[in-house]
Amino acid sequence: MVEHATGWWITGEGSGHLTATLRGNISPSELGEGSLEISVSHSALNYKDALALTGSRGVVRQTPLIPGIDAVGSVVSCSESSFHLGDSVVLTGWGYGEQRHGGLATRIRADPGHVLALPAGLTPEQAASIGTAGFTAALAMTKLQTAGLTPESCTKPIAVTGAAGAVGSFCIFLLAQAGFRVTAITGRTDEQEYLRGLGATEVLSRQEVLTQAGKPLSKELYSGVIDQAGGELLATLLACTASDGVVVACGLAGGTDLPATVMPFILRGVSLMGVNSVTQSREIRRETWDRWASLAPTVPWEKITKVIGLDEVEEYAPRVIAGLTRGRVVVEVAA
Ligand SMILES: NC(=O)c1ccc[n+]([C@@H]2O[C@H](COP(=O)([O-])OP(=O)(O)OC[C@H]3O[C@@H](n4cnc5c(N)ncnc54)[C@H](OP(=O)(O)O)[C@@H]3O)[C@@H](O)[C@H]2O)c1
Repeated sequence: MVEHATGWWITGEGSGHLTATLRGNISPSELGEGSLEISVSHSALNYKDALALTGSRGVVRQTPLIPGIDAVGSVVSCSESSFHLGDSVVLTGWGYGEQRHGGLATRIRADPGHVLALPAGLTPEQAASIGTAGFTAALAMTKLQTAGLTPESCTKPIAVTGAAGAVGSFCIFLLAQAGFRVTAITGRTDEQEYLRGLGATEVLSRQEVLTQAGKPLSKELYSGVIDQAGGELLATLLACTASDGVVVACGLAGGTDLPATVMPFILRGVSLMGVNSVTQSREIRRETWDRWASLAPTVPWEKITKVIGLDEVEEYAPRVIAGLTRGRVVVEVAA
């Protein structure tokens, strides 16, 4: 008997409306290419996935599409690869859930070069919690550290925007673990206790920070910034960054524009760097996942992670876009 997959299926032609449906009858011939087939146990609801599920054409590069930029599960079929049946694996980025079928279904077909063995010390649920968000947070941390910032060299804290979201939560945790002082910038100051629990030393409201918007230079407040917002908030924080400070842009939750001047760069020597989690090398992925595995016993998983079922994805997607979910939304794909 042919085994069918259950998963989210986005359809829509041309520039027309996109529709997401939960199908229980995705046939093997509809799963696409890839010599490694994985039985998916967990995925996640990333910002990108929420955009795809709510009809954003910027993320959905092919239709039909199974969304889900992250997948964790076990190998059920592999030809010509270094993996074996039953191996636990993790997959993030590489265009899955955007231009080829992703992880929000019980089966995914992948290229072996895109897949990593699940590191010892992480459960599948924990790996899905980390997923693209934790990977991105770790890459952003590495950018700051490679640029020379250390807890000792920083006279001022590191600001993290989108603080109560997924990438922001992991950034706060990683920075605090490494010994940095962290200012969490959030639209939800009622999450103060959560943010301090992750290691933030100060919590500021986004609105308060934005009272400084529009100035080419403001008081030097931060030695570094990890930004999830873009737009006016990123521009405002560039102007508040101390001399020789480093700003890492990860996201666009507040907009894709950057209404800034060159003053922070030429008068304070501020550096602006970017992070792209999608196409990182296998070596960087391996190192980053091993780092997370070593940190696993110290991560407050129950605070950061909310687990939902595959059938709850449609309900949660607009909440992710509205910034109403806290930390990381993990999807239990195969109950
Ligand atoms: N560069 C990469 O490779 C990469 C990888 C992963 C994610 N990203 C991007 O990073 C961003 C965050 O991803 P995520 O997974 O953490 O998403 P998320 O869990 O939905 O968190 C986004 C957070 O952004 C904040 N936010 C919402 N609306 C905002 C606005 N209008 N202005 C400023 N901040 C706003 C909110 O923080 P508060 O709740 O604290 O207010 C929200 O929780 C997204 O844009 C995503 O696409 C990029």
